[in-house]
Amino acid sequence: MDNFLYHIPTKIHFGRGKVSELPGEVQVYGKRVLLVYGGGSIKKIGLYDSITKLFADAGIEWYELGGVDPNPRVESVREGVRLCREHGIDVVVPAGGGSAIDCAKAVAACASYEGDAWDMVSGKVKVGEVLPVIAVLTVAATGSEMDTSAVISNPETRDKIGFSNAAMRPKVSIMDPEYTYSVSKYQTAAGTADIISHVLEVYFNNNPGAYLQNRFCEAVLKTAVAYGHRAYRDPEDYEARANLMWAGSWAINGLLSKGNPVGWSAHSMEHELSAFYDITHGAGLAVLIPHWLRHMMREENLYNYVEYGVEIWGIDPSLDPHEIAEKAIGATEAYFKEMDLPSTLRELGIDEEYFDEMAEKAGAGLKKAFIPMEKEDVLAIFKAAL
Ligand code: NZQ
Ligand code: ZN
Repeated sequence: MDNFLYHIPTKIHFGRGKVSELPGEVQVYGKRVLLVYGGGSIKKIGLYDSITKLFADAGIEWYELGGVDPNPRVESVREGVRLCREHGIDVVVPAGGGSAIDCAKAVAACASYEGDAWDMVSGKVKVGEVLPVIAVLTVAATGSEMDTSAVISNPETRDKIGFSNAAMRPKVSIMDPEYTYSVSKYQTAAGTADIISHVLEVYFNNNPGAYLQNRFCEAVLKTAVAYGHRAYRDPEDYEARANLMWAGSWAINGLLSKGNPVGWSAHSMEHELSAFYDITHGAGLAVLIPHWLRHMMREENLYNYVEYGVEIWGIDPSLDPHEIAEKAIGATEAYFKEMDLPSTLRELGIDEEYFDEMAEKAGAGLKKAFIPMEKEDVLAIFKAAL
């Protein structure tokens, strides 16, 4: 097990009706809020009305950045920064999924920087002071409500870049599973695939000494597999929505990767697909994950695949390890298919046109992956997934 620092300070209010805690939490940091949300789902489910009433009753002044796109764009971040400066914002409050939360985190980080927001997203300048972020989560998927990252797209340059800083972790997140009842079947399935992929990125590692972390991984994986499917079948199953939501936070809040380094190789590849084709993140991952797993399999790491097959998919441990590994990947593919997720890039409207460019960009950051990868590896995975 490698050395690590454990410090995951996000305060969580979890459960029905917990949005009532929002004004009190905001007032710890100030009284002028930027409310950040997406294309309107929070209005349909009544969350917008609840939040604005709570703010009004508590004398909290709020300004709004609405219309944040899935795969949020740097343009929205720039607008959010402008609003923060104009109104002297104290706290940024995203209400929505990973896109609204990521946009809010980027706004909170970029607000103290005089230059263009893209400089900070792209790593040209370091993150400095960050405004406090208090998130209200409405879809189980990215874990942004409890992690340190924000992923922002720049359609002009066809870039989608994740940047991180400990100060960007939300101070507080409010997680009411009932707000996720209205998430479509497609987004429920995509969110589940995202959660599973976050764990797999850590679970497949070269670090057999991180025993406890691998058992934590299995707990989160089993929860996501079982309850993702249940929420997909019955959107108003509270227990399913609650378990999926909590699994989503623990998949990527940092606990699993303590002492257990992650290369984020599948994510680097998917971010290129999203950057070029603006697809749903979890759907892209569902296509790539089985091919990524196959591509990385070696004699010396077969034990990872056997653990995965036996523990998560209940495959007979007495079988030949190669057979267990193949069955485990097959089970993963079948699971995604059962939830109507795509299994080929073509189904996502992706062909070979930009393979070379996307592989070049993704391959540049994969030297520390479970199996270090080059552009050629990424190309091979894209071709297999076509
Ligand atoms: O925009 P609205 O109207 O809110 O609709 C959204 C959107 O269309 C809808 N939705 C959200 N909550 C809903 C709902 N519809 C009905 N009822 C509700 N309660 O769902 C759609 C997708 O929302 P979005 O926020 O885009 O989804 P998700 O949470 O999957 O976030 C995806 C973004 O997060 C990034 C992804 O790359 C992508 O840009 N990621 C962020 C990470 C992080 N911060 O650590 C890690 C992830 O790996 C990922 O890269
Ligand atoms: Zn993800």
